Amino acid sequence: MKYHIKLSREMIQGAKIAVLPGDPGRVEKTAKTLSADAVFLASNREYTSWLTKSGPHSILICSTGIGGPSLSIAVEELAGLGIEYFIRIGTTGAIQPNIEIPSLIITTGAVRLDGASKHYAPIEYPAVADLDITNSLIAGAKASGVAYYTGITASSDTFYPGQERYDTFSKYVIKDFQGSLEQWQKLNVLNFEMESATLFTIASAFGLKAGCIASVIVNRTRNETPDDSILKQAEENLALALGHSLEYMLHKRGGIKA
Ligand code: URA
Repeated sequence: MKYHIKLSREMIQGAKIAVLPGDPGRVEKTAKTLSADAVFLASNREYTSWLTKSGPHSILICSTGIGGPSLSIAVEELAGLGIEYFIRIGTTGAIQPNIEIPSLIITTGAVRLDGASKHYAPIEYPAVADLDITNSLIAGAKASGVAYYTGITASSDTFYPGQERYDTFSKYVIKDFQGSLEQWQKLNVLNFEMESATLFTIASAFGLKAGCIASVIVNRTRNETPDDSILKQAEENLALALGHSLEYMLHKRGGIKA
């Protein structure tokens, strides 16, 4: 039985693919969208797990909580149970003016604005997504009919200063991050989120495979906070694209034995 996620090898029934939302509240819905046979497995702290299916294949859905440190624990323990493929699903704030809402962003590489990834590899080591998973996510997004973008994500440990939000409690963003949003825009970064840099670095360092697809809920060139009405749509778009991606990965491409 793993320390934090409270899962064992028997419980995950040979699953090789884990889908990782940040929010424990999204696990059940995601699992049930993929299959009516989804079953609850465990819940401890930020880690809630359900086992579901894509065709005959077992798929584990396990929440990671927000940010790199809690995600790193989930990835460590899931890898120890035999998970080889990690697909992060989440929400994101776009920073390029052309990005529509709702839409999906598939991260090809992440700017390492986290701390946890530095415990696994020096900062020169790239945080890049696995090509096969990324191609499956692209195929899934295309099949879903939702607008999507691919590119670089700035992946920050903090929601407020690291994403240059001046509604931080002190209203002060340290010098390192003042002007950083504009800098990332000019360097063609698409969006901010909080887990992909840690996930990609750990997965690559461990010889495992990871990808990330996120639903755009806000465009920082227009607003600082999402409109509540968009959240449900964003979640549905993500579940739809995920279902198609898994189908492509497991049944059409035929390259993954999971
Ligand atoms: N998640 C983030 O990390 N930033 C946003 O702006 C929205 C979601």
